Amino acid sequence: MGSNIPQKELISATENFIKQHFADDSSGHDWWHIHRVRNMAVHLAKKEGGDLFLIEMAALLHDLDDWKLSDGENTSKTKSWLNQIGLAKNDIEKIEEIIEQVSFKGAGVETKAVSLEAQIVQDADRLDAIGAIGIARTFAYGGNKGRLLHHPDIEPQLHNSFEEYKKTTAPTINHFYEKLLLLKDRMNTKVAQEIAEERHRFMEDFLAQFFFEWDCKK
Ligand code: NI
Repeated sequence: MGSNIPQKELISATENFIKQHFADDSSGHDWWHIHRVRNMAVHLAKKEGGDLFLIEMAALLHDLDDWKLSDGENTSKTKSWLNQIGLAKNDIEKIEEIIEQVSFKGAGVETKAVSLEAQIVQDADRLDAIGAIGIARTFAYGGNKGRLLHHPDIEPQLHNSFEEYKKTTAPTINHFYEKLLLLKDRMNTKVAQEIAEERHRFMEDFLAQFFFEWDCKK
């Protein structure tokens, strides 16, 4: 079944659905994260190209079935939603394919985005994980999972499998070394790389100050 509904309406219906779905999240994956990722993805798409409709839809839906947030159920909420709004099967598959490639699965686990659309949504999601907002979200996520801010005796680990990465309960500071500081060199597009440079530097400054204070250097 093909959809005759204008793309604009499909996007705004999806936006409303997602807004409600993520209204109460306190893990750093609230509606405003989705909103920023969508805006960044649109910004990148305007400079780098790609199918804007697919990019916007995938950005809006990218965390709906994410392993970090799912309660272990196997049904795809993304697929049900896209079916519900009557999107063509072909487009549903393309959007699912993009989302599938977005998530970070550990330092040593290759998650290569193949299509330009997937590269753009992945970059937009990763840009929201670094810089000032990245820092704020990381501590929100750690608090949500009951983790320590920092423990000097627990070393960061570069996880070689998704299973290992998923299981980690390490303090939040470790996450900077296990993921956030690695993202700058893993951006797909040139525009995202440039934005990442600045945000990366900000995190390095933050960490330097954090350890300075931790060690009571005043
Ligand atoms: Ni996300």
